[in-house]
Amino acid sequence: MSNDVLSLFGSRQVRLFGFARAALLHGLELMGISRGDSLLVPSFICDVVLAPLNRMGVEPVFYSVGQDLRPNLQEAERLLRPQTRALLAVNYFGFPQDWRALRAWTDGKGLRLIEDNAHGFVSCEGEQPLGLSGDISICSFRKSLPVPDGAALVLNDTDLAAADRTAGDASRLAVVPTVKMLVRHLAERAGLGEVVRRIQKVRHKDESLSGHEEEHELESYLVPCTLYSRLALLWVNIPKFRKMRRQHYESWLQWCVGRSGVCPIWQDLPAGVVPLALPLHVGDPAAVDRLRAECHGAEVRHWPRLPESITNNVSALPSFHRNIWTISLNVPAPKRG
Ligand SMILES: Cc1ncc(COP(=O)(O)O)c(C=O)c1O
Repeated sequence: MSNDVLSLFGSRQVRLFGFARAALLHGLELMGISRGDSLLVPSFICDVVLAPLNRMGVEPVFYSVGQDLRPNLQEAERLLRPQTRALLAVNYFGFPQDWRALRAWTDGKGLRLIEDNAHGFVSCEGEQPLGLSGDISICSFRKSLPVPDGAALVLNDTDLAAADRTAGDASRLAVVPTVKMLVRHLAERAGLGEVVRRIQKVRHKDESLSGHEEEHELESYLVPCTLYSRLALLWVNIPKFRKMRRQHYESWLQWCVGRSGVCPIWQDLPAGVVPLALPLHVGDPAAVDRLRAECHGAEVRHWPRLPESITNNVSALPSFHRNIWTISLNVPAPKRG
């Protein structure tokens, strides 16, 4: 499949999947990572990222990130063990990490580098798209663009690309998932979403906030990218999306100025960056309530739902994890009266 979306990655080999967690599973297998190995993973992470590791018997070893969401490499160094095979770092909310520094660090330790770019599909650092820096990078289309599913595994390491004999899931037509997706989509529009979800026995992705089942459940995500998304991606006007998200981000940044208890993590918007949302440190519950009351039309959400092993371990819990909230960028900020 060749379309504008995949040509974002230039000549790199890209494999398509239904979800980024399935892309990560394939990438880990391709790198020869297996049961008993361990992976350095940030403790500020969404629980579903652990699903492929749990399935493979790969142990996550958690390193911390600062309030600026930069990896604490001194700590990662202390956590190294003979079984450590790779470091995974995240372009949180579409903002790039310092990949040059991370590459120097992993190369120095003989480790693989994994770029979790699930939030940063279509985001760039200057002119360069995110997703080109890890040995493998994963991207999730549905988080950045108006499609229900779809993910990419970018094989930036040419040896890995040569070793991969599969074509990912692009060759599978995914008729059944596509029909299911269409039925669900139409049902949501008709207000019958819950009924159809029960019949299809699926959880509403991203909204099943109870428990930690998703970090142990991968099977229902091992589906190909639906035809629905693949066709929709052909029509998405990416430059328009980039421009809109950046404009909305700037307007919300301005809106936050002078509001008590609210502090954007990134106070400015570097060239090329296409944010997924506006992430904020919000000091206290009253400030969250005020945000919710005043953010007309935008969603205010907490992020992330942490893995169980982090929530059960007070010393591993990021001190700020309760305070990170996001404002969606579907609408611009209301004018201040
Ligand atoms: C940082 C991060 N990586 C990976 C994923 C997995 O993406 P997907 O839902 O496409 O499997 C998520 C999902 O929420 C995420 O937040």
